Amino acid sequence: MNFHIMTLFPDMVMDGLNTSITGRAIAKGLLSIEAVNIRDFAVNKHNRVDDYTYGGGAGMLMQAEPVYLAYKSIEERCRVRPRVIYLSPQGKTFSQSMAEEFAKEEELVFLCGHYEGIDERVLEEIVTDYVSIGDYVLTGGELPAMVMVDAVSRLIPGVLHNNVSAEFETFQDNLLEYPQYTRPEEWRGKKVPPVLLSGHHVNIEKWRREQSVLRTAKARPDLLEKAELTEKEKKILANCDELC
Ligand code: ADE
Repeated sequence: MNFHIMTLFPDMVMDGLNTSITGRAIAKGLLSIEAVNIRDFAVNKHNRVDDYTYGGGAGMLMQAEPVYLAYKSIEERCRVRPRVIYLSPQGKTFSQSMAEEFAKEEELVFLCGHYEGIDERVLEEIVTDYVSIGDYVLTGGELPAMVMVDAVSRLIPGVLHNNVSAEFETFQDNLLEYPQYTRPEEWRGKKVPPVLLSGHHVNIEKWRREQSVLRTAKARPDLLEKAELTEKEKKILANCDELC
């Protein structure tokens, strides 16, 4: 997978993504991440890429041409026309299933806006997907792009040490992850649930599933509506109003 991030702040993006798990995946050649500086494609001698909005109003807009040229410089290096994701609070809310869909692509381009946004005409020309990371407004698209690159990267085979951990985790089957514990067995008077020390794998799996269902019911009942529950689990939930 090759990620291309169009931005006015390339260092911000690369500093964040060159570390930890994504950094290791780059070193292993499992993915590549490049930040393309839109300012390198400025079309005036002052290297400006923003201007006033027609019709008036506060703030500046990013101009169409530098964004277009930056995109073209990426496109000509791709085998297929890449999907171009514009990070915007007006987009569709990012989710795990969207991350799974994007993880199938060979190339992904992220367009990070700044100031009051970007001239609409270039968005119409190049953007294929409008994505928001939540209902709040940030100063630019860099952090959302980093969030998406992180979420998509960890789904690429080989990126996580243990592929099982990408398979069985929060949001799989629309359930939250069960609680987990490591040594010591007792910490400040709090004990690890005995079933986890029993070595009985069937019971451990049963306990984990039950904990996932209870946790989801308590913290994210909206997810539970989409989860596939057994009749027994539905009954437990119906009878545990005071527990949940
Ligand atoms: N740019 C500014 N705020 C944003 C958000 N919430 N999601 C994606 N891009 C953004």
